[in-house]
Amino acid sequence: MTVPELRARKTQPEGKIACLTAYDFPTAVLLDRAGVDLILVGDSLGMVVQGRDDTLSVTLDEVLYHRRTVRRAVRRALVVADLPYGSYHVSGDEMMRAALRLIKEGGAEAIKIEGGDRRRDAIHRLVEADIPVMGHIGLTPQSVHALGGFTVQGRSEEAAPQLLRDAHAVEEAGAFAIVLESIPRELAARITGELRIPTIGIGAGPDCDGQVLVFHDLVGLTINGAPKFAREYAQLGTEIVRAATAYINDVRNGSFPADSESFHLPAALGDRTLARR
Ligand code: KIV
Repeated sequence: MTVPELRARKTQPEGKIACLTAYDFPTAVLLDRAGVDLILVGDSLGMVVQGRDDTLSVTLDEVLYHRRTVRRAVRRALVVADLPYGSYHVSGDEMMRAALRLIKEGGAEAIKIEGGDRRRDAIHRLVEADIPVMGHIGLTPQSVHALGGFTVQGRSEEAAPQLLRDAHAVEEAGAFAIVLESIPRELAARITGELRIPTIGIGAGPDCDGQVLVFHDLVGLTINGAPKFAREYAQLGTEIVRAATAYINDVRNGSFPADSESFHLPAALGDRTLARR
């Protein structure tokens, strides 16, 4: 999947774009095999992998580390990496250096940056340097303190038109796709109808051109509660506890490992070898 192919999916009849996050090799291999269109190495790793309350402390080096492990796994999907909080706020030059590291050291094919109209120049500069950009508006987790929490956005008379303007600004700046997070369905449908680039929804209703979910929410591995909009397709957390409990019991009662799970001396050596000191 390439950036132009993904962009073209907006108008093609293959069905909507399915995206998931991944942060490690086995998960990325399995999601790629399953046929996901886009894998996001998101800074949500701070919450679902590192157990933090938000994404703010995730560093560029951490995103790079996870991006490199995913790089070795993926054959088909387009892989996008997040520009973490702080990596593009000090200056445009610093942002460019961060994005170039994601491309050169992490092998990122595209980057995602949070924010609407106020990121217009940043997106434009990245695109001018041939770095494909995915926008992200609505509930932008890097602004959690400014927004006052992980709350639904665009519900007021002022906020809804502002998000519409933000979406257009991101498209005009040259982004190839845009994530719409936690906004009313009606607003996401309007943005999707007006933009020429695909909209990827998360908590934005079914009318977007695609959907993205955090992998841990998808499979029941989110420890501190998944958001309301996430659908759990498997309960791997329960399954891991079941497997670990069975293992602990087997170790304690001596039934693991079994004889068939053990190595043996070659028959020719026999007990005589063990008797030697
Ligand atoms: O970091 C992330 O995983 C994201 C998605 C939730 C869109 O930004």
